[in-house]
Amino acid sequence: MPQQLNRIETVVKPVNTMEVEASRLCIDHLSLQLEGRAILSKLSTTLPATGIIALIGPSGAGKSTLLRCLNRLYEQWQGDITWAGQSIRNRDTDLLRRQIGLIGQKPAVFPCSIRDNVIFGLSRQQRRAIADEEIYKALQQAALWQEVEHRLGEPAEHLSVGQQQRLCLARALILKPDMLMLDEPTSALDPRSRDIIERSMMELGRSMPLLWVSHDLDQARRISNHILFMCDGKLIEQSDTESFFNQPKRIESREFMRWSVCDC
Ligand SMILES: Nc1ncnc2c1ncn2[C@@H]1O[C@H](COP(=O)(O)OP(=O)(O)O)[C@@H](O)[C@H]1O
Ligand SMILES: [Mg+2]
Repeated sequence: MPQQLNRIETVVKPVNTMEVEASRLCIDHLSLQLEGRAILSKLSTTLPATGIIALIGPSGAGKSTLLRCLNRLYEQWQGDITWAGQSIRNRDTDLLRRQIGLIGQKPAVFPCSIRDNVIFGLSRQQRRAIADEEIYKALQQAALWQEVEHRLGEPAEHLSVGQQQRLCLARALILKPDMLMLDEPTSALDPRSRDIIERSMMELGRSMPLLWVSHDLDQARRISNHILFMCDGKLIEQSDTESFFNQPKRIESREFMRWSVCDC
């Protein structure tokens, strides 16, 4: 298994600056207050157009809150977030959430069949017209097809937690998103399920950006092409993964790598 991981990693890892230039999601001086407290403070960054971007930082840094702002689960922020040059404030929220899918820590499956869970986010008309090929493709991309191909009509609750998480991925992927955000998607999973998800996401990262919150620095190093390091609602450092781990620019980054805490 590790050998296979390494093999994919060498294919995915190289990041060229042109890709970084062609980035589509820009965050400009994003600030958010909740209950009178500053949770995000003047956060600015431009995400690469492809690859896995690991969002790391101590607990309470604002990582999950940032993801919620990006798909407008929070709307009361200041600053701007643009997607393909257009402010996300001007986008239809449903459409935005299809384009930028969000996968949480715990899988949320619906009390219906595996097949119906995959197509849950489609419109009624799309659900009626959906080709089996599309369902196959989404399950294949989520690395679940082989385990469910003969039981698509079974209740989704029969699946293991690791399989349910991949089912959630398939449900997001069938909507053909332009970007995925994953909030500690493997933290509740066994190592085998974690490895399967990591490998399928590394493959997917070749064609779209994946913003992946991880509290596990080894995982961030293993899977990502880029690092965003946040602390106390601020972006402390952003760089490619190799540079971040080998030559961090900020003392806070060094401390965080050493002690998993940050004193900023
Ligand atoms: N709805 C809320 N109201 C008030 N404070 C909140 C709310 N949600 C999160 N917070 C606070 O915002 C900070 C960042 O939280 P969060 O984004 O969940 O951090 P992380 O994901 O990095 O662990 C924490 O201090 C948390 O207590
Ligand atoms: Mg969080």
